[in-house]
Amino acid sequence: MRKTSDIIWQDAQHQGLFEILDLLNEPTADREVLRRLEAYTEYHFALEEQYMTKLDYPGREAHEQSHAQFRQEISQLVQSDQQLDAQFREIISTFLTEWLTRHVFGIDKELEEFILRSPAK
Ligand SMILES: [Fe+2]
Ligand SMILES: [Fe+2]
Repeated sequence: MRKTSDIIWQDAQHQGLFEILDLLNEPTADREVLRRLEAYTEYHFALEEQYMTKLDYPGREAHEQSHAQFRQEISQLVQSDQQLDAQFREIISTFLTEWLTRHVFGIDKELEEFILRSPAK
């Protein structure tokens, strides 16, 4: 029987990312939310990447490229001069949530399976 508690950190951190993303829908949301999202994303991606390196994960390169793409999207949003009005917040919230959902239930799930199967986890 598989023990999912072994990598509960991954699920908990994904949950944390979605919670920050939800804050973007608040009328009071400002760039600070994006900066928080950027910082927490960096923390989370770095940890996944540490595991991929440590376990010599075969899908590492594609996964890191995917992270790099998201890092770039967020960084551009943080630095953008565009005002965070309701319409813009909705656009970026939808975009980031869809991206993250695809990632978390796609290649992150594959990584999770791999970590769970790994004797060196
Ligand atoms: Fe992840
Ligand atoms: Fe990931």
